Amino acid sequence: MLKGRHLIDPQDFTVEELDEIFSLAEEIIKNPEDFAHTCEGKILGTLFYEPSTRTRLSFETAMLRLGGKVVGFSEPSSSSVAKGENLPDTIRTVGSYTDIIAMRHPKEGAPKYASQFSPVPLINAGDGGHQHPTQTLTDLLTIKIAKGKISNLTIGLCGDLKFGRTVHSLIKAMSRYENIKFILISPNELQIPKYIKTEVLDRKLINYIEVERLEDVIDSLDILYMTRVQKERFFNEADYIRLKDSYILDREKLKSAKKDLTILHPLPRVNEISMEVDSDPRAWYFKQVKFGMFVRMALIAKLLGVS
Ligand code: NCD
Repeated sequence: MLKGRHLIDPQDFTVEELDEIFSLAEEIIKNPEDFAHTCEGKILGTLFYEPSTRTRLSFETAMLRLGGKVVGFSEPSSSSVAKGENLPDTIRTVGSYTDIIAMRHPKEGAPKYASQFSPVPLINAGDGGHQHPTQTLTDLLTIKIAKGKISNLTIGLCGDLKFGRTVHSLIKAMSRYENIKFILISPNELQIPKYIKTEVLDRKLINYIEVERLEDVIDSLDILYMTRVQKERFFNEADYIRLKDSYILDREKLKSAKKDLTILHPLPRVNEISMEVDSDPRAWYFKQVKFGMFVRMALIAKLLGVS
């Protein structure tokens, strides 16, 4: 039963519960008009303490397409946060006005803390360099639609694996499916955090390797998940400038890739996928964007218990 639950970590829901969400999302994709009144009378609160385009707008359009309404802020300086209000008080207040909350925060763990004070379901829309479970729902649904399965796949995760929260969440979630091999492609300094290795990959005896060069492994991949270098999480600008263009996927590099490779990116893209790749049939990142809205529609309906 998903009604009334929070979504803070990608492992908060079982694989079966995720399947329920994906099935509903696929029904919505087929017949969106059937769901135009599903959330009538319900209100979503979006509290974004960090910049966002896709996550906030896909949450908001998801609720509007379900017939619900939306309130919130995209800039904490325009709310009482600027007067020094603490997070529990903000959450108790917004939870009194709304039926469900999506929250993004620069501090790791903030949504978990906030959920303890929330009278309504609270969804983590990204917390610092930690987790981003609804991007993971988006990624898994896209993989399911592209490949027809979420098992027996080799996935390359490329770029900033240290600060990229979408990567952390995707590894956590995919490690629960059968026969997934991870190829972790990053500069030495941007390798996956140790806790992901010890608590997820090693603990579950998952097959993974760490490499520095995309060219060396691209031919073995079923999925290539590109990410941007997370500028806002660097302590030092010189390091960012040195590392930001570590990987640029272009037509030339794709020559040795599989014909049915699926290229994903949570977006925003900065430089890591050349625009010439956009017209390649293997580029799925703009379809992924759209699936993100549909999967959030399914998630909202399930957490509100109205599907
Ligand atoms: C990601 C994020 O915010 O973590 N964007 C998104 O939600 N689609 C990825 C990123 O910012 O690089």
